Amino acid sequence: MADFIDPKSEWWRQAVCYEVYVRSFADGDGDGVGDLPGITARLPYLRDLGVDALWITPFYPSPQHDHGYDVADYTGVDPLFGDLAAADDLLAGAHELGLRVIVDLVPNHTSSEHAWFAAALAAGPGSPERARYLFRQGRGPEGDLPPNNWQSVFGGPAWTRVEDGEWYLHLFDPTQPDLDWRHPDVGDLFEDVLRFWLDRGVDGFRIDVAHGLYKVEDLRDQVVGQDEQAGSGAVNSTQTMVERDALRDEPMWDQPEVHEVYRRWRKVLDFYDGDRMAVAEAWTQTSDSMARFVRSDELHQSFNFHWLTAPWSAAAFAEVVEQTLSAMALVDASATWVLSNHDVERHPSRYGGGERGLARARAATLAMLALPGSAYLYQGEELGLEQVDVAPEHRQDPSYLRTGEPGRDGCRVPIPWSGDHAPYGFGPGSGQPWIPQPEGWGPQSVAAQTGNQDSTLEFYRRALALRRSVATTAGDEVAVEVVDTDLLVLRRGDLTVVVNTGSTPRALPAGEVLIASAPLPDDPDGDPDAPGTPGTGTPGTAGTAGTRLLPPDTAAWLADPS
Ligand code: GLC
Repeated sequence: MADFIDPKSEWWRQAVCYEVYVRSFADGDGDGVGDLPGITARLPYLRDLGVDALWITPFYPSPQHDHGYDVADYTGVDPLFGDLAAADDLLAGAHELGLRVIVDLVPNHTSSEHAWFAAALAAGPGSPERARYLFRQGRGPEGDLPPNNWQSVFGGPAWTRVEDGEWYLHLFDPTQPDLDWRHPDVGDLFEDVLRFWLDRGVDGFRIDVAHGLYKVEDLRDQVVGQDEQAGSGAVNSTQTMVERDALRDEPMWDQPEVHEVYRRWRKVLDFYDGDRMAVAEAWTQTSDSMARFVRSDELHQSFNFHWLTAPWSAAAFAEVVEQTLSAMALVDASATWVLSNHDVERHPSRYGGGERGLARARAATLAMLALPGSAYLYQGEELGLEQVDVAPEHRQDPSYLRTGEPGRDGCRVPIPWSGDHAPYGFGPGSGQPWIPQPEGWGPQSVAAQTGNQDSTLEFYRRALALRRSVATTAGDEVAVEVVDTDLLVLRRGDLTVVVNTGSTPRALPAGEVLIASAPLPDDPDGDPDAPGTPGTGTPGTAGTAGTRLLPPDTAAWLADPS
């Protein structure tokens, strides 16, 4: 590891972590699927972008029914992505550049091709091998009805019947059987897996479905309200597992016993030097339940999906920021901020797409990057990519295959690096990668955007550099204000962030503009980073001659004038 990484720095508290969806970041061998050598070759890009860490989605041996979230062997590398030596090279290369590496851990379920599940099927009902999963007799006189009313996140019943008549639980795809965390072998396996990757030098883990693992012990029916549908959440482009209008009964999620697992893991992580960490993907129902995952003896961070699900509204953003920071302060944890990832519609599309969607996305990103805590970026957002409309014949997401909903393929299209036709520099091959890239993506590529100061890529580079110098040093307190409905004002130390979510220009408060998400109108050069003329003082008052204005769908950072 490079000398300049201070092992006691708690680097994760204010890091920018970049999610690498391994299949779609960079293809080293030209087979049309991204891989570990591809990532290693592109590490300088990530260093120059200005991120602190990369989180890599699962690259372990897997039949790829859920693109790696169906793990057949937790301590290997799928030949599709390389081998253990390639993983070691990636870790060494990242550390040399001062980048940390977070790997994905999938403890809620294995692949149906994991040796344990194969043994469970072979051993038959009542066997010790079956006890590591949740096999049950069915209901009804013939046992041909599922053991309870739970629905899979990917649609349809959460139970599949095997030949001998028993059923097994899978909260996701049938190829992802849920483990029974009440069985001691399960905890022991994952402790070994943690140690395996920690010994190889990983800096942290992203815990998949961290609010899962334990289910209510008697696997009772979910109580479904009259206006509710049975289900354990849905994954599609517009709805996510966290979108519930009201608190609902969820016997399959967020059971109190899960916290014992994280206490055990925390001890393992703390045993290692180098400030190793874990971040939970916990789709809990409230900020308070999320905070329980990040108590001081549990995980270090939890993804905060509340901004991602908020509408384009100053009031909604203000509420998210206030609630998140107060929930995290109670347990002295650092907040996290997420606008896009491999499971949801990309944020420019969520905000309406086109020029306006991109303007809003850049503004939301700029606001997010100013806040205390860590920001998790998703590959391609720095290029301003929109959700791709993947043709039905090319869709591969198991949730699409089970529900017919568009699914998540549209945010997983391999990213464009250069050139004007597929594979846009994604790999050395020719022709389309595993999900076809759209025509006309050339101007979105890394090569095309580099050096163009108006591009989204250069905007991200400037914002990330500035974040290091003026945001991460501005303290943990944030004063949140909404002025006249549409203007969000966040004050963090000497830094003021303003977001105009309305439809008319608004006056900027006093202070030098450090960066804006789009060129400001009275800037003669159209350069959003030109040293600013001071504003007139009162945010939101109508513009007068000489007043610096913030256009709609735009955000700016200002330095305190004093
Ligand atoms: C998480 C992953 C998602 C996967 C699911 C099942 O939500 O982010 O991609 O399908 O878990 O492992």
